[in-house]
This record gives sequence, C-alpha cells and structure tokens, in this order.
Amino acid sequence: MAVTTRPQAPALDVKRIRADFPVLSRTANGRPLVWLDNASTSQKPRAVLEAMRAVYEEHNANIHRGVYEFSERTTAAFEDARGKVARFINAAEPREVVFVRNATEGLNLVTYAWGRDNVKAGDRVVTTVLEHHSSFVPWQQLAKEAGAEFVVVDVDDEGRLRLDQLRRELERGAKVLAITHTSNGLGVINPIKEITAWAKAAGATVVVDAAQSAPHIPVDVRDIGCDFLSFSGHKMLGPTGAGVVWGRAALLERMRPFLYGGDMISRVTLEKTEWNELPWKFEAGTSAYVEAIGLGAAIDYLTAVGLPAIHAHETALTGHLLPRLLGEAGVTVFGPHGLEDRVGVVSFDVKGIHPHDMATLLDREGIAVRAGHHCNHPLMTRLGVPATTRASTYLYNTSAECDALVDAVRKAKKVFGV
Ligand SMILES: Cc1ncc(COP(=O)(O)O)c(C=O)c1O
Repeated sequence: MAVTTRPQAPALDVKRIRADFPVLSRTANGRPLVWLDNASTSQKPRAVLEAMRAVYEEHNANIHRGVYEFSERTTAAFEDARGKVARFINAAEPREVVFVRNATEGLNLVTYAWGRDNVKAGDRVVTTVLEHHSSFVPWQQLAKEAGAEFVVVDVDDEGRLRLDQLRRELERGAKVLAITHTSNGLGVINPIKEITAWAKAAGATVVVDAAQSAPHIPVDVRDIGCDFLSFSGHKMLGPTGAGVVWGRAALLERMRPFLYGGDMISRVTLEKTEWNELPWKFEAGTSAYVEAIGLGAAIDYLTAVGLPAIHAHETALTGHLLPRLLGEAGVTVFGPHGLEDRVGVVSFDVKGIHPHDMATLLDREGIAVRAGHHCNHPLMTRLGVPATTRASTYLYNTSAECDALVDAVRKAKKVFGV
C-alpha cells in the first residue's frame, strides 16, 4: 500500500480518543500534561491496559507448555496477537512474525542470525546517516568483524536522503541495505518501495527499521518488497517488551537461531539439537506473552482509528506547528519545512538555549519533549549540532498543545534573554 503524503482522511475525534488514555488527564509540574515525546514512546489506551489485565486476572499461564485450559487460552490469545501483527503489516503468513522485546532486538536478531552467516570479507553493507543507533551500530560492528565495507549514504541540506548517492552506491553492489523507513531525528519518510526495488535489483538483502513508521503510516511488507522489517510495540500504543521482527519465511527457515534455550527446540539429544518450526525457532525462553497480547489490542485500536486518518491528523498538527515555530526569532527547524513525506517529528534549536535547558523549561510548563542526540550521533554530526529539541505528535495531540509549546518556547527565550 502506498503512503499517501497528503492523505485525505476523515478528521479524528481527538476529544474521544483522549478520553481513552487515562494518563493524558494527569498533570506534570502542576500543569495539564502535554505529551509531545511520542517518537520516544507513546501513551496507552485503556483497551491495551484492559487486555493485559484480563490475562493476569482471568487465565494467566505460560504459553505453549501446558495442556490445561488456562495455558491453552493464553497460547491462543498470544498466537491471535501474532495474526493481528501479520495482518497489520500484510505478512504472507503469521509464522513470518517473530515476537522480540523491541526494534533494537529485532534488528540485532537479523545481524546475528542472518548477517554473520551471509556478510563476508569484501562485501558492501550500505546504510544511511539517518539511521538510529539500533540499526547503524549492529551493521557497523558486523561489517568490521566480517571485513566488509561499510557505506553510509548522506542526506541533503533539507535532511532528505541523497537518493542519487544511494542509487549509485547500490549499483556498485551491496550485500545488504539497512535503512530506516522514517527518521526519528527529522521525521522524513524515505521512499522505501522505490529504494527497495533498487537494492533488490543490485542483489541486496533489505532490512527496514520501521520503528517510526509502523505507528504512524501504513506499512505493507509485501508492497515494500523488503526482506526483514522490525518495530517496537511501545511506540504504537502497546506496552514495553513487545516488539516484532518480520522476515520472509524462506530466509527465516535458512537462518540459525538467535538465542538458544527452551521453546525454540524440537528435540535435544546428547549429541545435537533440532530447532523448532517458525516462528518459535526465534522465540527462546518464556515470551512476553502478556505484552504481545497488549500489542494485539493496540493494533486493534490503531486499525479502528485508521493509519491514514492518524497520518492526516499528524500532518495537520505539523502544518500548525511548523510556521509558528519558524516565526520565532532564533529558531532553527531541522528537516523539511514542507509537509510532504514526513511524520510529526519536529526537531528544533533555539539560538542561545541548549536543548537540555529548553526541555527543562518546557517541563515546567507540563510539556514533555525529548532533548539530546536521539540515538542519532551520525546525523547530529552531519547537522553540525550536538543535540536538538524534538517534539513529536501522535493521534491524541491537539493544535492547542502545539500552541502551548510555542508559548513555552517564547517564555524560555525571555528567561534566557535571547
Ligand atoms: C528509528 C528508530 N529505530 C529504532 C529504535 C529503537 O527502538 P527501541 O528502543 O524500542 O528498541 C528507535 C527508538 O527510538 C527509533 O526511533
């Protein structure tokens, strides 16, 4: 499914949505909470909290092991959640969906279980300066160990990927392309389907980091055409501890396991061990089954609201926030100033105020934003700054909250006399 950059979708009933999120009615520092740190983690609707509470209160038991009713019910709920994830990303089969703790673990699983056996000396590992450390570092380390070349594609001055450079590098040959769908530092959406087609034509295996796309825009693994894709449940209304790595069944079948232990085996003798079938071959030990069930409830919630409508809402909020921030003297906004192909991540700097000081002053107004390098050291170096202040919106944010942010920035400027 193609991502609509200026989606025409029905407006969200934000008031109703907000009522589903208990934490949004709390205060921070005596002010109504303004949660603008969604790229870091999202808040949770009551439906997710209830789904998890129901497991503990009604049928808690370890999965895949018991032959009694509670275990069978919990196992069914866990596998049902896997089915929801599979439909959410349009996977060919649920067995292609592996539950992991988070995107970081999913991306590491691919480097360890696929990369170590497939990337050899002299191969080229292509990635981009937009990557989060959880994608960048595992491939950088693997390339070092294997003696492979590590190629990092740049961005232009707007923060968009240099597609000309990326295409050229892929045409020179690539064993693997590790690429983010959406930048957590700048909010840009990469044209992932087009890029994947170039990479596949070059014979590369394509690993997509969807941590910032799956929560905000439709993600369809078969339409993208990639080989692996990973994301975290906690950024998309789900609990911590439940993430996903999806891989093509044919690749997952051929890969060695990532972790060894219980549940991932079919038979162990003194001499050798045989692996369980997909996806359990990659799910060693007791899975975070309650969290996976919570993620299933989060997916139900997101699907009912609709990803196109969520993306349209965030685009409208960005359209509201950007000109107001840019209208303030001394404010620099990193990343595109237009609304095309971006999500609701707005990274900015105010001359004379360190982002940490800015975030602290915003916190006094009840506004939660992220200040720092956002696990994007290479990108910060490219932008020539040590850190930025990052506001990131989601389905429950309002234009009034964006106004509150701009007012608080103005107030901070007064405090600092800039
Ligand atoms: C683009 C991107 N990839 C990966 C991650 C890692 O997610 P997690 O910390 O949940 O593993 C993040 C987290 O911020 C991210 O923004």
